[in-house]
Amino acid sequence: MVGNPSGDISRKSDTWGSRFGFIMAAVGSSVGLGNFWRFPYTAGENGGGAFILIYLLCVVAIGLPVLMGEYALGRKAGMSSVEGIQSLARNAGKSENWGIIGWVGVFASTFIVSFYMVISAWILAFVLQAIGGNFAGITPEQSGQNFGETISNRGNIMGLLLVFLIANAVIVGRGVKGGIEKAATILMPAFFIMLLGVVAFAVTTGDLKQTVSFLLSPDWSAVNFSTFLAALGQACFSLSVGSVLMVTYGSYLSRDTNIPRSSFIVAGADTMVAIIAGFAIFPIVFQAGLDPAGGPGLFFVSLPVAFGSIPGGNIIAMVFFSLALFAAFTSSISLYEVSVSWLEERHGVHRMGASMGMAFILFVVGVAYIYSGDYLDFVDFLTGNILLPLGALFIAIFIGWVLPKLDMLEEIEDQKLHAVWYTALRWFVPVFVGIILFFGIFDGLQDTFGVQMPAFMESLIGSNKSV
Ligand code: PHE
Repeated sequence: MVGNPSGDISRKSDTWGSRFGFIMAAVGSSVGLGNFWRFPYTAGENGGGAFILIYLLCVVAIGLPVLMGEYALGRKAGMSSVEGIQSLARNAGKSENWGIIGWVGVFASTFIVSFYMVISAWILAFVLQAIGGNFAGITPEQSGQNFGETISNRGNIMGLLLVFLIANAVIVGRGVKGGIEKAATILMPAFFIMLLGVVAFAVTTGDLKQTVSFLLSPDWSAVNFSTFLAALGQACFSLSVGSVLMVTYGSYLSRDTNIPRSSFIVAGADTMVAIIAGFAIFPIVFQAGLDPAGGPGLFFVSLPVAFGSIPGGNIIAMVFFSLALFAAFTSSISLYEVSVSWLEERHGVHRMGASMGMAFILFVVGVAYIYSGDYLDFVDFLTGNILLPLGALFIAIFIGWVLPKLDMLEEIEDQKLHAVWYTALRWFVPVFVGIILFFGIFDGLQDTFGVQMPAFMESLIGSNKSV
């Protein structure tokens, strides 16, 4: 197999135990808070149907080819993100500085995991509340108040954050096969079964008619560049694309795994869960008369109301929030893996030591969020909507313009598919993502911060909504 000319770091020796295990771990990474916390509120804020269609376009035309690219890079290099990209560049006679692409991803995933942990701690708090029977008969106002009180009970959230962080560190510290893969193989199937149960409940008790018209009838008049940016960011976030995490996961892949097929399964499963989650959450939102554009609290405010309104609802609430916790957990361990595998490979730090060290740092950062309260939304926007699309853009440029054309053929295997995929990465992805990032950022600046744009820009991105 490919040697590493620099000599000091060799191919990963650990591999996934089985193809099923890898798929579960990869689906586990993709399916997470992005699907049922971020997707519904982002769709809600961006008007529903039209957003969802643009989101689907981004998944197919951007997410999928980049996902395949990340796996291909990882398996070809046999190393984690930064090292792997550097070694591929070196082998192609290009500058090692391309490793910077890996850094964008490491940076993004570290920031994501920092707030991901805090939202997961909120979910853990809700699991406990459900067990305590807190939601019985709760009204929408009370539920809003409960959410506010729960997240501002700092001592409590800090304790739960610590529990969540240590659980992550222990699993990641145990390695890929014995830790990450094992956890995902048990948790993901349980997750799918529970999800179906909750949807059945939501569509039978909630307002299905309004949900269908909200999710499936697009209102194109509200679409602008920031809708595209939100959809692109959501697609990257949900598929875990652009964070180079999948490069690391790809480096543990054995030769007999079919990369295109695995990517289809991962992207398909992730998208399905997002849509299903929409059908689990919006009927409840409409039934309770809540605002679909209610922001990050949507998930935490709407669900208790619905669960609280029926006998035995606490049990369903417990199931649902545990399910969300499982899914968040299998994603956060993957985010962890990015830095742990780098520390292990580059600096020879023991896995368990690296994981525990990460837990400590994340706890400190998490506490800062818990105390400030404000930065979480901002970091969510910055990482999801800017850094991940930027990471995806760089990966596309790296494969499409820096590496030799046929470098990845061996990984994609099928010649025709390779040709289509390569063209997508060389032309479509950079142009599309470049345009959306550029205009989306200006649109965001204009709408959120009231920055006055020159007239020609305004004619492209629409006028300033805030004045
Ligand atoms: N895809 C995960 C989710 O949907 C989040 C994530 C993003 C995980 C980037 C890894 C890397 O929740």
